[in-house]
Amino acid sequence: MEKKITIGSDHAGYALKIKIIAHLKELGWEAIDVGTDGEASCDYPVFADAVCKNIQNGTTKLGILICGTGIGMSMAANKHRGIRAAACSDVFSARLTRAHNDANVLCFGERVVGYGVACDLVDAFLSTEFEGGKHQRRVEMFMQFEKTEF
Ligand code: RB5
Repeated sequence: MEKKITIGSDHAGYALKIKIIAHLKELGWEAIDVGTDGEASCDYPVFADAVCKNIQNGTTKLGILICGTGIGMSMAANKHRGIRAAACSDVFSARLTRAHNDANVLCFGERVVGYGVACDLVDAFLSTEFEGGKHQRRVEMFMQFEKTEF
């Protein structure tokens, strides 16, 4: 897979985002930063939308969203077609959401996890492949909700 990922945050996730971009570079990943670009208060759905658009239009296959908790970002991202966003604060979940849910957006909160855990979440997310099989069927089942529930 091309080592390119879209990343976004609001003000509450900005400082951690800058550090995570540096971490991604160390891992050999190009990070496309869609904002925000400072710590002035802003609205997280704007940046969730920008990351999701980059996935929907094929610019990158994966994304990272950081806010205060990771929860608002994941809720906003999951309102987008084709997006499977997971708010994680432990490495097991970050690994399993790739392996079982084929998550394409990792969300976490700067007010929840520190830099070290955030790096571990990113590492687990990026190094895990979707397992397919029975998990493919289940992912297809819930993706159908885009057709019946929206
Ligand atoms: C901003 O104060 C905060 O609400 C936001 O970053 C996020 O945690 C929302 O889910």
